[in-house]
Amino acid sequence: MLRRDMMLGAAALAAIFASPATAQDTVKIGLIVPMTGQQASTGKQIDAAVKLYQQQHGTTVAGKKVEVILKDDGAVPDNTKRIAQELIVNDKVNFIAGFGVTPAALAAAPLATQAKVPLIVMAAGTSIITERSPYIARTSFTLAQSSVIIADWALKNNIKKAVTMVSDYAPGADAEKFFSDRIKAGGGEIVSAIRVPLANPDFAPFLQRAADAKPDALFIFVPSGQGGTFVRQFTERGLDKAGIKLIGPGDVTDDDLLPGMGDAVIGTVTAHMYSASHPSKMNKDYVTAFEKAYNFRPNFMSVGGYDGMHLIYEALKKTNGDTDGDKLIAAMKGMKWESPRGPISIDPDTRDIVQNIYIRKVEKVNGQLYNQEFATFEAVKDPGKTAK
Ligand code: PHB
Repeated sequence: MLRRDMMLGAAALAAIFASPATAQDTVKIGLIVPMTGQQASTGKQIDAAVKLYQQQHGTTVAGKKVEVILKDDGAVPDNTKRIAQELIVNDKVNFIAGFGVTPAALAAAPLATQAKVPLIVMAAGTSIITERSPYIARTSFTLAQSSVIIADWALKNNIKKAVTMVSDYAPGADAEKFFSDRIKAGGGEIVSAIRVPLANPDFAPFLQRAADAKPDALFIFVPSGQGGTFVRQFTERGLDKAGIKLIGPGDVTDDDLLPGMGDAVIGTVTAHMYSASHPSKMNKDYVTAFEKAYNFRPNFMSVGGYDGMHLIYEALKKTNGDTDGDKLIAAMKGMKWESPRGPISIDPDTRDIVQNIYIRKVEKVNGQLYNQEFATFEAVKDPGKTAK
């Protein structure tokens, strides 16, 4: 009996998944982001950017009203999965989007496949994510993109001995691997590879280990939101005064926290896809509108959200409002546009983002700290994709 009930349950669920909402006048986007907890700044940034996009571009596209349903998963993957299921089954959303951390995106991936609902990764950065479902497209970044490029910069700038320090989860492992492999291939050396717990990290003991190894540079990856604590502990431990250069992907000098980091962070060189001081007209307009509306600076997560909305709107225009998941994903493949970060596109083979990676140095501009871009690597594909 119990077994039959369970089977009926599964069959009913399959039937619901097999009949996505059709012919309705409203297109629904389930936006799942962390609005609370350690990753809350990501949710705040993406929510703000999504609202700004709709203020600027309207809430109707291809004759349909676009409704965003915002849900807080606290970056806990079990929550993400439950919420994604509720959004798909009960609210009959046509897209799921957001995903502040890699484990959240991975938890939702099988549901996208089952329900044939496009899943737009606006934040998470581990290479493998887009391979977990043919219905995933990404508008954020991968850690591999920036870690390879900062390794090349380090080698050219006489950094021979590095310590890596990364948050101990998937994107940290990607950052560590892509940086280390490149440094070693170029004749450099990794003298210590340190992993730091993701939850409420105390960096002090790990920084001591890094200092003891006397490297030329410390390569750091922490997810957005943790950079402030890290930089404070880095300077409290005197690593800056010991002449250890701080380098990494740009998550550590996140524009959300950078204004409060203090002058010790000046000179930090990172590789990343977005700086609030990116000198294009489009970005100047974006930052002005964003700061006027919210009174805080947009960071790299915000552009993942803004561009994710653009991808959804443009795909709907191409399908003429048809919300069939296969048609929408096909429409997204190869799409190219200008983002506040610079020119971007969706790789038609991998559905991953192709974008410029900039080398930046923290400097004071009109009394405020910014990541000032000084070199550009154009149209970088994710180096983490297995060759097709
Ligand atoms: C991730 O979990 O994939 C992630 C989160 C925050 C970042 C980068 C990567 O800044």
